Amino acid sequence: MCGIFGYVGSRINAGQMVIDGIKHLEYRGYDSWGVACKKDNEISVAKEIGKISGVNGEDFAFHSSQAIAHTRWATHGGVTELNAHPHLNEEGTIAVVHNGIIENYTELRDELKKKGHIFLSETDSEIIPHLIEEELTNTQDFASAVRRACQRFEGRYALLAMDSTSQTLVAARTGSPLIVGVSPQDGYFIASDIPAFMDYTRTVQYLDDGEMVVTDGKSILFTDIETGEERPKREIEITWTIEQAQKGDFEHYMLKEIMEQKDSIARAVNQDEDQILTLANAIRNARGTFLVGCGTAGKACMASEYFFSVIADHHVNFAPASEFKLYHHFLQPESLLIVVSQSGETADVLEAMKVAKSKGAKVLAIVNVEGSTIEREADYSLLINAGPERAVASTKALTGQLAVLMLIAYAMADKLKDGKTLLLETAAMINDMLNPRYIQRIQDIAELIKEKEDLYIIGKSWNYPMALESAIKIQEVSYIHAEGFAGGELKHGPIALIEEGTPCIALVGNDEVTTDILSNTIELKARGAHTIGVAPERSEAFDEWLKVPDAGTAQALVNIIPIQILSYFLAVKRGKNPDMPRNLAKSVTVK
Ligand code: M6R
Repeated sequence: MCGIFGYVGSRINAGQMVIDGIKHLEYRGYDSWGVACKKDNEISVAKEIGKISGVNGEDFAFHSSQAIAHTRWATHGGVTELNAHPHLNEEGTIAVVHNGIIENYTELRDELKKKGHIFLSETDSEIIPHLIEEELTNTQDFASAVRRACQRFEGRYALLAMDSTSQTLVAARTGSPLIVGVSPQDGYFIASDIPAFMDYTRTVQYLDDGEMVVTDGKSILFTDIETGEERPKREIEITWTIEQAQKGDFEHYMLKEIMEQKDSIARAVNQDEDQILTLANAIRNARGTFLVGCGTAGKACMASEYFFSVIADHHVNFAPASEFKLYHHFLQPESLLIVVSQSGETADVLEAMKVAKSKGAKVLAIVNVEGSTIEREADYSLLINAGPERAVASTKALTGQLAVLMLIAYAMADKLKDGKTLLLETAAMINDMLNPRYIQRIQDIAELIKEKEDLYIIGKSWNYPMALESAIKIQEVSYIHAEGFAGGELKHGPIALIEEGTPCIALVGNDEVTTDILSNTIELKARGAHTIGVAPERSEAFDEWLKVPDAGTAQALVNIIPIQILSYFLAVKRGKNPDMPRNLAKSVTVK
């Protein structure tokens, strides 16, 4: 997490530019921010606690053609100005912004302290400029000193470093994303994510793990951190636009992205059919298929266990990515790991891929962000084409992931055309659903329950993972204590939590488990719960009914939509900013 952005080139407003650019990376962390600009062989620094979105870039419009900036999601050390980046050496001649964790920082800090270095912050990051300074006693060249320092780091990180004397910006990555933006007239931009520099260029080059890049704004050199060998790079043109990554007329990204599901599901469904058939074959031929993801993406994987079972009569195994390494005993070269991730940068997923690869297994990635590490490191990859997802709460990525997983299940059952038709019909039904009257009805329910502190959601079959997902959505943006359960599990414990008026949502379809889930809902109502049914048909089990279309095996996609909207309005009505939930960041690049 944390967003980093740096620039060197011919423009003379580097400070203002990186401040404005890093605002686009605020989804990666927003505890505090900071900027370092080089001006007349001096580095000037500003840093503060709080969100960078409120900062006026014009305050940094002084003459400078090299700058770095940071927006923080705290890992080591609390949210204080001293812990905010950039970090500098004592003389203030070297500035560094960092994303990730230097795992051996205690040992390095002790070593540096013995040599007389004084540390001001509680962060692991502060050792970086000090170690670079120390390495400058072994080499005159700033870039070589950064390389030597990086060779000593353990952990996953991305960093940008500059010094007061050379016109050099150095970046290095191991595990956390870094992308170079190339503009022949302006110079070079280096950031954790593309929107930081999209106002200037759409031509990018990706750093891979273990690589560093050195630029003076006129030319650029990619090398291997360890060996120093040059690494050739392709230039890639980005196909999406900056408008897609902005809020437009919406007050929050979350609502914009919920509404975009009118189109994004259809984009996910319109995949290359040959590719889907190849992947279906890969699953058929694998000796054990495992699906992993984290959070919302994990719930899509869990739902696919039901898709593959019901649609394709095929068994697959889901595990949260962070648990997968314990499954290594089950892996063999013929196993297949399917990883699902919106960002394509989640550390736990990358770790799971490493485990599978170490056993010779193949990896299929279903991702949203093209060019992300997971997409590039997988053996096969499929894009869900949801477009940029900025809100921390994942919405349109989920429905894209569900659609692609269902499509593969249909392909395995030799019914790809039927699956595609059903999913496109479902996309059209969701389009109809997202109308102002429907949204008002959900707002009314949000108004009714906004003061409640506990909320439960139940489901069966694919609606069970959707109940778990509903809980994540409500928790992360409204801070209401929400929990999802399999309807049949209530009587084994959770029903003891129900009191008079406790809001309970039932996710219902029109299928073989409808009777069961309705009777679970009646059990809740009998204990005083205020029941809210998300269902195609009205039922006496519901105190409130949110009608959804009957989408058959695609019901999971439809049922989650009103819950996404409900979560959004619960957050807004409780005075919370749904785009920036406390303690969270969009992309979790630490383990
Ligand atoms: O980028 P990813 O899909 O790999 O992210 C996984 C989770 O961190 C993510 O889904 C998270 O749970 C969302 N904030 C939930 O809305």
